[in-house]
Amino acid sequence: MPDDFERMWADLAPVGRSAVSGGYFRQPFTAPEAELRGWFREQCAARALRVEEDAFGNLVGWWDVGSGPAVVTGSHLDSVLDGGAYDGPLGVVSALAAVDLLRARGVAPARPVGVSVFVEEEGSRFGLACLGSRLATGTVSWEVARELRDGDGVAFGDVVEGVVAGGSSSLLASVGTYVELHVEQGRDLVDRGAAVGVASGIWPHGRYRFEFAGSANHAGTTRMEDRADPMLTYAFTALGANKQARLAGERATFGRVSVTPNGTNAVPSHVTAWLDARCSTSESLTALVDGITAQATDRAGRDGTSLTVTAESVSPAVAFDAALAARVAADHEDGDWPVIPTQAGHDAGILSAAGIPSAMLFVRNPTGVSHSPAEHAELPDCLVGVSALADTLERLLR
Ligand code: GLV
Ligand code: MN
Ligand code: MN
Repeated sequence: MPDDFERMWADLAPVGRSAVSGGYFRQPFTAPEAELRGWFREQCAARALRVEEDAFGNLVGWWDVGSGPAVVTGSHLDSVLDGGAYDGPLGVVSALAAVDLLRARGVAPARPVGVSVFVEEEGSRFGLACLGSRLATGTVSWEVARELRDGDGVAFGDVVEGVVAGGSSSLLASVGTYVELHVEQGRDLVDRGAAVGVASGIWPHGRYRFEFAGSANHAGTTRMEDRADPMLTYAFTALGANKQARLAGERATFGRVSVTPNGTNAVPSHVTAWLDARCSTSESLTALVDGITAQATDRAGRDGTSLTVTAESVSPAVAFDAALAARVAADHEDGDWPVIPTQAGHDAGILSAAGIPSAMLFVRNPTGVSHSPAEHAELPDCLVGVSALADTLERLLR
């Protein structure tokens, strides 16, 4: 069904795209994301899939066939700020195309099939990644989630209650297995010369808010030795985090900074910066964040500034069901597909941690670039991915 894939991909191409960067701004419950959700409902209607929405805006299009625990596949339609086209939408479009392919193959599923779209996977608006799947699995409570605020102070609860017509709260109750297809966000598959791979697990990772406080003062008249400059402490911390992560073979990134008052001719009073840290084990994640915090605290003492660190979210390691991964990966035309770990978070990881056997398929990304307008996958590889997903569903639906 290459035509269907290409048609759907062309539908999505302009939605939320910046004319300046070519990247995507598809934050949850904004106009572009609403357009994508409407598009998804249309695609479900065209395939006679019954759409169910939960109380948080998560969607599943149900193919009501067979009986027993359902097999659900999908991903998300939101993006990071100025993100790529593939992270999320590739999994949703491939899921719809895989349903088409199963029908074209004349497969009669023994179990119900669902195509899912989870809300705010990136945490780009309300700060907590995989918010929709965390809510759907009860990993985060509505009481906590409803108070999360976007950059303008708007609460997630108010947005959701204004848009979602009080849907069900048991969207995942009948799900027996979840499969998410995703663009690969590294270069493992390029190095292995494979178009498709299967996930073994997800590195533990977390988001930490570093609040540096100092004293605002004049940029010209304040002698250098008289300053309490939180930007200086932050800058040292960012360099130190990078060095510590490199030495440990782990990952640390400060990708978001907010400065008060943010004036060119003033020493700032406050700098808030968010650390994204990802490590191969929980112990090394704790050690890395502790090490970065200790270095920053020491530096704050020397700069006359202060530091408060708050863990906004910490996601433990995910080990996907190894037997399921092996079953998905084994015995294809070109042999077995590689089974590889990832450092990126996914809704499939949340569902897996909540006890729903889950698997992930990755589609090769020629440059490995992701969370950037340059993110890419070649069409032939995407079509191999669709067919791999259909094969996987067929195995699971027997
Ligand atoms: C999700 O894409 C993440 O890992 O940040
Ligand atoms: Mn994603
Ligand atoms: Mn992402």
